[in-house]
Amino acid sequence: MNFILLGAPGSGKGTVAEALNKSFGLTHISTGDLFRMNIGNCTELGQKAKAFIDKGDLVPDDITVAMVKGRLSDKDCLSGFMLDGFPRTIPQAEALETMLQLTGQKIDAVINLQVSDAVIIRRISDRRVCKECGATYSISFNPPLKEDHCDVCDGLIVQRADDMPDTVLTRLATYARKTKPLVDYYAGKGILMTVDNEMGIGFAMRQIQDELKSKNIIN
Ligand code: AP5
Repeated sequence: MNFILLGAPGSGKGTVAEALNKSFGLTHISTGDLFRMNIGNCTELGQKAKAFIDKGDLVPDDITVAMVKGRLSDKDCLSGFMLDGFPRTIPQAEALETMLQLTGQKIDAVINLQVSDAVIIRRISDRRVCKECGATYSISFNPPLKEDHCDVCDGLIVQRADDMPDTVLTRLATYARKTKPLVDYYAGKGILMTVDNEMGIGFAMRQIQDELKSKNIIN
């Protein structure tokens, strides 16, 4: 099975990917995480991407597509993957289709997470991440057991630079302009599933499992 997780910034793509991973063991590919890893390792790609990410803009399509193409050619993607945050533009979606045609793969479902902007802004302002391993916390509903330290690796918990209020508004506007058209694009292909992630993650997961069953993607 190959999935795409689509949704506005902070709509819960990473959280749902983690839950899906527990159920299906698919390889999780987050373009945001790949960029942050490159920034942390001071690679040339990371330096190019940082300027766009810090402003809340998208990294240019050519840079992003080349990075995803490299990642999808890794062996662990052959048995199924979840793309989290890719594609985010129509040209990226078209490039993905070309890549998959070459390997004889296809996307089985596009999971579109719906959350209102007001809830997104609250969740993002509550979000903290581990500087070392990237584990995500919410200071309201899922705080780390030890203040400011990660439960997984004891690394320092910080707020993402692009989670500052002004940048979040830019990210939401960028989403509306460049990424939202993908909802119609994938609906037209008959593989879009719309999931309400305004409530708890358990509620979102039940909707996903029901939809996958109704489409005979899982038993
Ligand atoms: P990326 O890291 O992908 O950022 P994003 O899309 O803005 O998404 P987020 O990581 O902010 O949120 P999420 O949807 O994963 O939500 P989460 O699960 O954390 O990308 C960063 C940047 O990289 C982009 O802005 C762009 O510049 C660049 N980039 C990335 N991909 C690109 C591409 N393809 N092309 C060009 N540029 C690209 O959840 C948020 C919070 O809500 C968490 O605290 C979580 O605990 C909580 N939460 C989630 N679900 C629930 C629930 N059901 N109930 C209660 N709380 C919940």
